[in-house]
Amino acid sequence: IYEKSLRPQFLSQYIGQDKVKDELTIYIKAAKNREEALDHVLLYGPPGLGKTTMAMVIANEMEVHLRTTSGPSIEKPGDLIATLNELEPGDVLFIDEIHRLPRVAEEMLYSAMEDFYVDIMVGQGTTAHPVHFPLPPFTLIGATTRAGMLSAPLRDRFGIISHMEYYEEKDLKEIVLRSSTVFQTEIVTEGAVEIARRSRGTPRVANRLLKRIRDFAQVQADGVIDQKIADRALSLLQVDSAGLDYIDQKLIKTMIELYGGGPVGLSTLSVNIGEEQETVEDMYEPFLIQKGFLKRTPRGRIATIRSYEHFHYPYQDKLD
Ligand code: ADE
Repeated sequence: IYEKSLRPQFLSQYIGQDKVKDELTIYIKAAKNREEALDHVLLYGPPGLGKTTMAMVIANEMEVHLRTTSGPSIEKPGDLIATLNELEPGDVLFIDEIHRLPRVAEEMLYSAMEDFYVDIMVGQGTTAHPVHFPLPPFTLIGATTRAGMLSAPLRDRFGIISHMEYYEEKDLKEIVLRSSTVFQTEIVTEGAVEIARRSRGTPRVANRLLKRIRDFAQVQADGVIDQKIADRALSLLQVDSAGLDYIDQKLIKTMIELYGGGPVGLSTLSVNIGEEQETVEDMYEPFLIQKGFLKRTPRGRIATIRSYEHFHYPYQDKLD
């Protein structure tokens, strides 16, 4: 019997992201029909929404190998060449955090993506000469938190650009129920709904919380996750009623208590809460903005009335 893994293996098992799934289903079918490599795919969106999983699913559906690397782990052109050298016709090359690829490596990708070759300089000084290195047709899948962080020449070489969205509560509930069966943990619907509601629209968060709540249920109850256990555990984990975690809460409270609700600059805010600017921008802000707790203005970030209300601060003279 096959072991069900936490990550879905095929599109039919992938919950949520319907728009991305529906499009890819067609493109994959068409490419397979033509016996061609799938066009290059750019997946962008906040961390934890399943970009890596989607790349694995695409490779499975195409019935090809998946080679995985990341922007930061490619330090010099040779690192990229070594990876490209392993590709067989139709394979998928997944580059996570593709916006952090060094410039020289990025420029090699242009010809690799467009015409399936790279020109490599061999030798030094007067003996230096280019060597033409053909590649098999392959599919590059790039993942990034924001499409705007890619240079236009790179972005333009992706034929398929898919935006991953925060998950709806009903989809996260299904994911929590599915993960519970993988963990062989008993859970009632209301327990799954509570976790789904408080997971920042993010499967990675939902699955992490599920593991911790399972521990609570096992030690402090009869092992079954119901709404009461979920609520109690989430409170102890400092996940509030709106699903904001400790850092979210600290960020908003800092804005209100230290900066009168803003506007405050991103760098100032990041230093205050002790997080990297990029982490705040890619991970925390998008969710807070979507839920209406924070706004980006040309003069800086501002906390909304919703934030004042949620954290019980007075806001008489505040308008937003
Ligand atoms: N586990 C994590 N993300 C998932 C998803 N989108 N569908 C099914 N299971 C998942």
